[in-house]
Amino acid sequence: MKIDILSLFPDMFKGVFSESIIKRAIDNKLVEINIHNFRDYTKDPHNKVDDTPYGGGCGMVLTPQPIFDCVEKLKTKDSKVILLTPSGRPYKQKLAYSLSHEKHLIIICGHYEGFDERIRTLADIEISIGDYILTGGEIASMVLVDSITRLIPGVIKEQSHLEDSFNNNFLLDYPTYTKPRVYKGMEVPEVLLSGDHKKIEEYRKNESIKKTKELRPDLLEK
Ligand code: ADE
Repeated sequence: MKIDILSLFPDMFKGVFSESIIKRAIDNKLVEINIHNFRDYTKDPHNKVDDTPYGGGCGMVLTPQPIFDCVEKLKTKDSKVILLTPSGRPYKQKLAYSLSHEKHLIIICGHYEGFDERIRTLADIEISIGDYILTGGEIASMVLVDSITRLIPGVIKEQSHLEDSFNNNFLLDYPTYTKPRVYKGMEVPEVLLSGDHKKIEEYRKNESIKKTKELRPDLLEK
C-alpha cells in the first residue's frame, strides 16, 4: 500500500514512522509512506497557504490552491482521498479494515482554524478520530496510518488482529498475564495455569464480558 500525507509540518512524522511495527512494514516494503509539505505547492509570492475568512471571523483558513495542486499531482485511479476533520465520519476499527485493503491513500491534514470548503470536494471520505479538537490533522493521520498498517497482510500475525477488541464481537479483550506468577501480592488466575484449554476459553469469554460491562457498556448494547 502507498500512503501520501499532505501536511504543513512534515517533521512531526519523523519519530512515529521510524520505530517499531511501522518501520518494519516500511523496511519490508509492505507500505510506502510519503509526507508532502503542501506549502511547496503554493503559487502565492509570499509562500502563503492560508488567508482570512470571507464574511469575517477569527483565525486563518487554508486556501484551496496548494492542496488541490498537490492532490491532483498524486492522484491516480487507485487513490482514495481522505480529509481529516473533527466533523468527519467517526473512525472505527471496521473503517480501518476497509481502508487496509486500498492500494493508495492520500490523507489531507487540515490545520489552523479550518480549510476552505471547496477542499472537501477533493475527498472521497472525511474522517474524525474522535469528538475533540486537535490543533491539526497530523496526529489524526498518524492514528490512521498506525491502525491501518498493522492490518496490512504480513505486517503482524493475522491471529493477533483477529482477536482485537472492536472486531466483530463488540467485546473488549480479555485480560492477559505473563511471569511472574505473583507480583506485589497479585496472583495470576489459577485457571490460566491449569492447561485446560476449554476452561481457559470460558474464563476469557466471561472476563471479556465483565470488562466490557464495566468499561464500555455501550458496546454490549450493539
Ligand atoms: N483535526 C482536528 N481535530 C480532528 C479530529 N478530532 N479528527 C480528525 N482530524 C482532526
